[in-house]
Amino acid sequence: MTNDPNSSRVALVTGANRGLGTEIARQLLTRGFHVWVTARHLPDAQATAGALGPHARPLQLDVSSPTSITTAIDHAIGALGRIDVLINNAGITDGLQPATGPDFALAAATLETNVLGAWRTATAVIPHMVAAGYGRIVNISSNLGSLHHMTDAAGEPAYRVSKAALNALTRLLAAELAGTGVLVNAASPGWTRTDMGGAHAPRDVEEGADTPVWLATLPETAHTTGQLFYDREPLTW
Ligand SMILES: NC(=O)c1ccc[n+]([C@@H]2O[C@H](COP(=O)([O-])OP(=O)(O)OC[C@H]3O[C@@H](n4cnc5c(N)ncnc54)[C@H](OP(=O)(O)O)[C@@H]3O)[C@@H](O)[C@H]2O)c1
Repeated sequence: MTNDPNSSRVALVTGANRGLGTEIARQLLTRGFHVWVTARHLPDAQATAGALGPHARPLQLDVSSPTSITTAIDHAIGALGRIDVLINNAGITDGLQPATGPDFALAAATLETNVLGAWRTATAVIPHMVAAGYGRIVNISSNLGSLHHMTDAAGEPAYRVSKAALNALTRLLAAELAGTGVLVNAASPGWTRTDMGGAHAPRDVEEGADTPVWLATLPETAHTTGQLFYDREPLTW
């Protein structure tokens, strides 16, 4: 045990078996956290947690399944008694399709995962954070979710709507949790080389994970909540 308060903190990362989720988990582990490395398929969580080290704990969590969410959170609380940090990272995209004629099944799945998944996971964790008087929730958003930039026809309409909704959720949760010690913020990692971002993205995962991890480790005295950040700076909604 060190004097670093993070050495006894517990984080839970959704979609942690690859991409930004794995890197966020890795960076939190280097800061002394115990990390629930969650994935929708348990063997993926086990493989990733095994590679990350002894303070990484695998857990099955499919954010599109309310039962999976409550089972996972109950297990995590039962095992370690607390969840100090929730990283709502799991996400999918609907890809290159027009807003004027989307595949609505794909759009529904995108909203279910990116918005309702994050929302349900947060509501499962929040009572435990409020009881502890401490919590950091980081919703992984995107520059593509800013209304300010939605004047082009770049595709991914459901993805963009989902991230705008996630930004709205960030503000609503933060407002309701004011004064509880639970801070809720959103972070855009930027265009990052992952399966989703592709090989030509300019950022590596280390850079993409920086702002989410910074928000997850805001000091005890911080009041920053209900905001959206990119490279540790406020991003226009
Ligand atoms: N990469 C970028 O350029 C970029 C830019 C802005 C924002 N983001 C955001 O960053 C986050 C991570 O993206 P990434 O680039 O790391 O994507 P990725 O490589 O495609 O990884 C996505 C992760 O989400 C998981 N996931 C999908 N559906 C899930 C579900 N129902 N339950 C639990 N996990 C689920 C995936 O699990 P499986 O392996 O089981 O599919 C995978 O672990 C996403 O929210 C994304 O929107 C990414």
